[in-house]
Amino acid sequence: MRYNIGLLKGDGIGPEIVESAVRVLETVGKKFGHEFVFTDYDIGGAALDKYGIPLPDATVEGCLASDSVLLGAVGGPKWDTLPGNLRPEKALLGIREAMGLFTNLRPAKLYSALKDDCPLRCDIVENGFDIMIVRELTGGIYFGERGMREGKYGEEAYDTECYSRMEIERIARVAFESARKRKGKLTSIDKANVLESSRLWRKVVHEIAEQYSDVECSDMLVDNAAMQLVRNPAQFDVIVTSNMFGDILSDEASQITGSIGMLPSASLGETSRGLYEPIHGSAPDIAGKGLANPIATILSAAMMLLYSFGLASESDCIVAAVDKVLDAGYRTADIAHGADSLSTTEITDKIIENI
Ligand code: IPM
Ligand code: MG
Repeated sequence: MRYNIGLLKGDGIGPEIVESAVRVLETVGKKFGHEFVFTDYDIGGAALDKYGIPLPDATVEGCLASDSVLLGAVGGPKWDTLPGNLRPEKALLGIREAMGLFTNLRPAKLYSALKDDCPLRCDIVENGFDIMIVRELTGGIYFGERGMREGKYGEEAYDTECYSRMEIERIARVAFESARKRKGKLTSIDKANVLESSRLWRKVVHEIAEQYSDVECSDMLVDNAAMQLVRNPAQFDVIVTSNMFGDILSDEASQITGSIGMLPSASLGETSRGLYEPIHGSAPDIAGKGLANPIATILSAAMMLLYSFGLASESDCIVAAVDKVLDAGYRTADIAHGADSLSTTEITDKIIENI
């Protein structure tokens, strides 16, 4: 089979880590007899520098014409002072919206080889943990009405959290389906003791739950969830939550896996076309130094093979190669604790050797 993959390398370490994932995909393609055709499109600061806007139309059109899209990272200090609508991050929200990607899957699991990197006490993570965060991605406060106005105390700014029944229903279904394929446990996280939008969220999740009697579903308030994640992460199987709560909790979950450099993500909509990206940012401080950990991006490519192309064995093959390299003790600097470490290219070579 032939697959067209759009590449959004972006800023900072984006180009290096995407290059690693491309090499891994090419190796998998050769081994299993697939052809992956890659096309670059500009996004974020890279697009701002060239065209003065973070998300050119050609990028949106190119992504919509691709079979799937792999993204590195966007943003950096150079563009931090631009107004909100010109910030590189705006491009990320724009492309998610343009591609209709309302689901964001963020798996956070503890690799046994990386147990010592986990900042939690060893008795807490004795049995590891394996969490799938299902984050709503095109609604809520990220996309609600916002603005500036004159208020009681003078100048004020506001952002609005708004969720429709339809948006809650479709993300809840994705989460229940995911739980059904895993351990059958779903935790819906909200702030229903305060927010009206959370009360609708909870009501709709309960309604959908009736269609999934095989899934054990419970609610948790977000502040408690933030605490439970570090108190006993193994209690979670699938988490479903809103855009902003998912953003915050997925960073927390990533840190207890040892390194944010390990976590992939998949953004999905109604079609098989997705956007796959590491959950970490552009890390401008280490860009171009060969220090970046490419594993999150390589695992994002593995998620693409599975979720967009249905290539389960090919995807497993990448995951197994990463496992082997970690088990053999190879590390990038972020997970080496000052011991010997491999560069971005070197660890990619090791993963490729194991495919
Ligand atoms: C993420 C990031 C983005 C988000 C930013 C860069 C807009 O933090 O993907 O988690 O908040 O969604
Ligand atoms: Mg985030």
